[in-house]
Amino acid sequence: MLWDHAQVSVLIANIGELVTNAPVDAVSVASPGPYAAMSDAAIVLDDGKVAWTGSAARAPAADSCVDAEGRAVLPGFVDSHAHLVFAGERGAEFAARMAGLPYTAGGIRSTVAATRAASDDQLRANLARLATEMLTQGTTTFECKSGYGLTVVDEARSVALAAEVTSEVTYLGAHVVPPEFADDVAGYVDLVCGQMLAACAPGARWVDVFCERGAFGADEARAILRAGESAGLQARVHANQLGPGPGVQVAIEAEAASADHCTFLTDADVDALAESGGTVATLLPGVEFSTRQPYPDARRLLSAGVTVAIATDCNPGSCFTSSMPLCIALAVREMHMTTEEAVWAATAGGAHALRRTDIGHLGTGARADLIMLDAPSSAYLAYRPGVPQIAGVWRAGERVA
Ligand code: NIG
Ligand code: FE
Repeated sequence: MLWDHAQVSVLIANIGELVTNAPVDAVSVASPGPYAAMSDAAIVLDDGKVAWTGSAARAPAADSCVDAEGRAVLPGFVDSHAHLVFAGERGAEFAARMAGLPYTAGGIRSTVAATRAASDDQLRANLARLATEMLTQGTTTFECKSGYGLTVVDEARSVALAAEVTSEVTYLGAHVVPPEFADDVAGYVDLVCGQMLAACAPGARWVDVFCERGAFGADEARAILRAGESAGLQARVHANQLGPGPGVQVAIEAEAASADHCTFLTDADVDALAESGGTVATLLPGVEFSTRQPYPDARRLLSAGVTVAIATDCNPGSCFTSSMPLCIALAVREMHMTTEEAVWAATAGGAHALRRTDIGHLGTGARADLIMLDAPSSAYLAYRPGVPQIAGVWRAGERVA
């Protein structure tokens, strides 16, 4: 049906470098594989999916054709960690950090106050602005957490608003203990595991806990993840961000999809991640940039055989960037990743961290989520930091930017 845009097949021809994260010419690909790229390539998108990839010289015909003129094409970025449901901003807190103050979990409470005071439409407008920002920078899938409401009503509305913009919604009632429960932490944990969970679980896929000094301890985190699991949610954990601690071990015990931050890891943490078989280490280099903390060494994790993802952690406190290209550049320069490892971590790695097999790669049958760069190779994402290079974005086969 020619009038149904999604049914029109598209050939992107003359691609200088096509990053697929999939074996060349495989008939169908069930999940993201190791980093893989080919030069002088073409790709056909049909019915929202990748229908064919291969050498430009052998490209089949399609209903329409885009000439990439030698540019690079890669899977859309998968940003597996973001906190986008909030009101207000904390620019002064960032400036104070750059003048020497440390980052502390306490700043979260000022965003909680602003978020509670905001209308649904104010929160929705902020979310829409950030979602558009992400899309135009090449992010075709993003996760979004609640966590700035911290009452039953405000968490439920955060989850509902997040579900309007993504299917990867995370219930983070356990972000910090809100001020009204300062003297009754156990009471707050009960609320998070009880009434608040019941209100949030239907709209969410994931449950997350900030397991850190100043937020929630190991036993509290375990209880919250267990309760979430009983309500049908899968675990992910904010772990080892501000210092060494039990977060990574708690994540692995809970068979979490991902332990996020991983800034302060012991050798035992690294070994446990390598042996976990299913818990990804999600690195958030924008946080180290924005808090002036030391960058974790991705090479240490990769050498041990840990699956590494890169995400933004976009939030008004510890890191207010929505830019996956910036995070790739920082991961390469500051975390000792190769350009290929960082591109993989920002695409296939993010898909693993969200337990998704349909995204993060451009194998035949994958969702046709992809980016064209105004550059001949994906290495330019780190090679030209800070320069806008996204020349086109397709989501489910539709050109959206
Ligand atoms: O991932 N660490 C906890 N949560 C966020 C920060 C939120 C904030 O500072 O507002 C993070 O860094
Ligand atoms: Fe976070």
